[in-house]
Amino acid sequence: MKYSNYSTIVIGSGIAGLYASLKIEQQANLPDGILLITKSNLGESNSNYAQGGMVGVMKENKNDSTSSHISDTIKAGAGLSEFNTVKFISEHSDKVIKDLLNFGVEFDRNEKGELTFTLEAAHSVNRVLHSGGDATGRMIEKALCKKVAENKNIDIYEQTVAVDLLVNSKSECKGVLVFNDITKEYETIYSPVVILATGGIGQLYKYTTNPIGATGDGLALAYNAGALLQDMEFVQFHPTALAIDGDENRFLISEAVRGEGAKLVDADGQEFMYKYDERLELAPRDVVTRAIYNEMQKHHTNCVYLNATCIDAEKIKKRFPNINKKCLDNGIDMAHDFIPVAPAAHYFMGGIKTGITGKTSISGLYAIGEVASTGLHGGNRLASNSLLECVVCAYEVAESLKNEALNAPKQIDNEIKTTIENYTADCDFDIEDVIPLKKELQDIMWNYFGILRCEKSMLDGLEKLNTLSSKFNREFACLSREEYEFRNMLIVSKLIAECALQRQESRGAHCRTDFPQTNEESVHSHVSKKEGELCFVK
Ligand code: FAD
Ligand code: SIN
Repeated sequence: MKYSNYSTIVIGSGIAGLYASLKIEQQANLPDGILLITKSNLGESNSNYAQGGMVGVMKENKNDSTSSHISDTIKAGAGLSEFNTVKFISEHSDKVIKDLLNFGVEFDRNEKGELTFTLEAAHSVNRVLHSGGDATGRMIEKALCKKVAENKNIDIYEQTVAVDLLVNSKSECKGVLVFNDITKEYETIYSPVVILATGGIGQLYKYTTNPIGATGDGLALAYNAGALLQDMEFVQFHPTALAIDGDENRFLISEAVRGEGAKLVDADGQEFMYKYDERLELAPRDVVTRAIYNEMQKHHTNCVYLNATCIDAEKIKKRFPNINKKCLDNGIDMAHDFIPVAPAAHYFMGGIKTGITGKTSISGLYAIGEVASTGLHGGNRLASNSLLECVVCAYEVAESLKNEALNAPKQIDNEIKTTIENYTADCDFDIEDVIPLKKELQDIMWNYFGILRCEKSMLDGLEKLNTLSSKFNREFACLSREEYEFRNMLIVSKLIAECALQRQESRGAHCRTDFPQTNEESVHSHVSKKEGELCFVK
């Protein structure tokens, strides 16, 4: 077993993890350096696939204001957004975006060189910055990966899975245990600061826009460490993923296509959004998703269609080059044909409870980006607010560490020794093919904890999850990255299931057919692990 020491460990190389690493390196005093760990290649993350863009409430956008953005975010959030968090993030958007530009990130501009802002659902003005047309995430990742790779003070471990947090008996996080997926070796890394930037959970569901690595690892690690988790029942389903038969990891058709005027139609070519919401195609995501789901049920179809033929063919090529290419690859010409679309799991509003600086309930443990629940998104995220939250919180975690003494811990206690032993003891089991188990889990989550939920079916779903758990007997050590991911998926699925059962109301993305009303009294839900058991915290 190898041991090492760092002043800060960042886990995850999406936009939150990359930007936090760069800002911490720039600002903090790091006697033992900084380590960035990622379970795949540096650029692989949900961030890399972000299309529509990033909210930028910029001074130069005269039509916009922070008050308008705050109001839109809170309206979409279905009564669960935290006003102070929303205000802070909105007011810091101009500053962080200018800082991103200094790091070499480029956003699309008009002929005069001015930033261009697009419209997405539930925004009252055009305020979404984009890059490469519809490749915003990839462009930002590319620029930040380059800076991180060039930075001599940031060590990088790729293909390395964080498998457990090293938390002592005083509930202080002192480092992380990692598993190298190539050499299959463990390493113990001590640090006074561990930042989880491990992203979302889309892979828990049969249909998702998220790439293969979105398995909720950070949530499982934090839960096992006893951290407080918030609003775990809130999963966002994007309304318009490309619905090609057999394709379960679905390519996203950005909301920005509707922002440019595309209409949703049924199999007969009839528009239907007017039946559901006066904001039509630009109603909040949860509303559009349920409308599409309802139409699909009514017509017994696997999809509805997006009619983008009203957008000029040249504009399609320029504004949506990647979506256009993907459609063409599937024999669909966006300028002339309807695009088959259906909802898919897209984003997780729940997460590790944090403030703006990423502090969790465990000293030394921070969480930023999609894995965290800051209270910005409430019960339903407003489009393009996620990337903004990633960068504002990454900036703030670095600010908060500026004056800290970041020396690697000198001593560890028995609690940490036991954690390490749990992984290094000899294993008396063989490697498991988790592909069929994973498929089973994804079916359960889609069928029982999906867009519409009710007690009876959720209880059935929970029982199925428990049966599935008993087929896979791994509490600590696993034998591959895939096994670790599946272990984590089981933990997070059960948390979503338990929390969805507890919330007896419909709110934002959590829609209960047996409790269709919103309960004005209800608040955030909180869970943590106490004495080995899930415990709801008031
Ligand atoms: P991620 O980008 O998901 O990065 C997580 C990182 O953690 C990855 O590098 C992963 O490999 C690593 N990791 C995970 N577990 C471990 C582990 N155990 N050990 C080591 N490493 C680990 N949001 C917007 O605001 N605007 C958009 O236009 C937009 N479009 C989207 C389009 C798509 C198709 C998708 C899927 C999402 C989109 N989103 C969008 C959401 C947004 O992209 C994400 O919420 C955001 O990028 C999350 O960033 P992150 O840094 O928190 O996590
Ligand atoms: C999209 O482009 O539709 C995704 C935007 C988001 O998830 O914020």
